[in-house]
Amino acid sequence: MSAYTYDVVVRGGTVATASDVFVADIGIRDGKIVQLGLDLMPGRREVDASGRVVTPGGVDAHCHLDQPSPPPVRMADDFDSGTLSAVCGGTTTVIPFAAQQKGASLEAAVQDYHQRADGKAHVDYAFHLIVSDPTDTVLTNELPDLIQRGYTSFKVYMTYDDLKLDDGQILDVLDIAKRHGAIAMVHAENSDCIEWLTKRLEASGMTAPRFHAHSRPMLVEREATHRAMALSELIDVPILIVHVSGREAIEQIRWGRAHGLNIFAETCPQYLFLTAEDLGIDDSYVGAKCVCSPPPRDKANQQVIWDGLKDGLFTVFSSDHAPYKFDGSEGKHPNGQQVAFRHIPNGIPGIETRMALLYSEGVLSGRISLEKFVELTATGPAKTYGLHPRKGAICIGADADLVIWDERDLVITNSALHHQVDYTPYEGMKLKAWPGCTLLRGELMWDGKSFVGPRHGGQFLPAGRPSILPRAARDTSPAHPHSLSTKPLEFP
Ligand code: URP
Ligand code: ZN
Ligand code: ZN
Repeated sequence: MSAYTYDVVVRGGTVATASDVFVADIGIRDGKIVQLGLDLMPGRREVDASGRVVTPGGVDAHCHLDQPSPPPVRMADDFDSGTLSAVCGGTTTVIPFAAQQKGASLEAAVQDYHQRADGKAHVDYAFHLIVSDPTDTVLTNELPDLIQRGYTSFKVYMTYDDLKLDDGQILDVLDIAKRHGAIAMVHAENSDCIEWLTKRLEASGMTAPRFHAHSRPMLVEREATHRAMALSELIDVPILIVHVSGREAIEQIRWGRAHGLNIFAETCPQYLFLTAEDLGIDDSYVGAKCVCSPPPRDKANQQVIWDGLKDGLFTVFSSDHAPYKFDGSEGKHPNGQQVAFRHIPNGIPGIETRMALLYSEGVLSGRISLEKFVELTATGPAKTYGLHPRKGAICIGADADLVIWDERDLVITNSALHHQVDYTPYEGMKLKAWPGCTLLRGELMWDGKSFVGPRHGGQFLPAGRPSILPRAARDTSPAHPHSLSTKPLEFP
């Protein structure tokens, strides 16, 4: 029996949750928060947080780690480097994607992804699924079984040849989500429009990175967002639109919500801090570093995203960390070759900078409240993906995943980050804060300067039923009133 009541006491911090900010000591035992109060008994280890803000460890609900890509392209971060980078930036839970290959089973993707993660992760992790081939077996056997086993979210793509589903296939997947209590995430861009525009641009020799943005204007995102919402309405199941980039998709989501649709939305740092100009204002190739989909828009759209973060449009703020090197043979500039924009791997790194960017430019610049920061970076994603209240919360019984913030001036440089990518899109950006301390299940992982935690102790988290879903899996009422004049059809 230990002489101490607590293994760790985080003492005197200003504790922020998604609903309240208050001064308290946090008592931790066996990796869990067991007490919140003032003047707690001494812990075996004391962490002084007085005068500093304490938030839940971040939950990065959209990141890509060691996700297989067609050779020679390869992600620079695996579970080791990606989760090291995450925890040094204040993220203690990640949810990357087990991606089905067309023609292969979903189960095979999950088994393969576990092998990639097992014994490598430094933070806790759940998996989303990517459904790219919804065969009868996948729909009837694999998905229901996987949902039961703790994989309760899946992403469907409306674009990318090797991943995209047609509308009928998306309806099939949404139907399974409804029947079995899962949440579908939708990458909403109109594939045919992108292909048509891309061919036109290529025929005119417009292949530099900046034309990536021209091939994916906001209308392709707007149309697909509206269509995804219509599909969700037909099945009467909530969906979440991922990586929303700007005004036009947001207008659709606001319209859908005003008409009673259950639409959730995610955005990412690139839509707050980058614009299409970062892809290049001339034909220079360095803009390849910021090629991602949907592309960053313009300054006016950044403000529209800030508004959505503040007013509840967004439930989740994720990194969409998609780590491809610029130099080398496996990334964006393969062996020094300037490839046409269609061949530049899509995605940018950001798993380590996500939390500090939003804390500094959101909270400390007065754009969002501390509670909203916690909701967007931790509580919202944990609730959305069935990990709450174990994750994303500071309450009795939750895992003691905590960030203690250092409010100080700093400049982002890639050399200070821990990912394996050879650049950050935010190089040179001035911030006003960085995590001074990150705890995972009560263990000190990051002390503001170095990774100091136990290595590779990340645990797999089977996800529960997303708490944003209606209570009963087969709940069909009330019907959305505006266009479905009768209750949704019930099929056996
Ligand atoms: O460009 C992006 N966003 N790459 C990552 C894959 C995805 O669609 O999220
Ligand atoms: Zn996507
Ligand atoms: Zn992504």
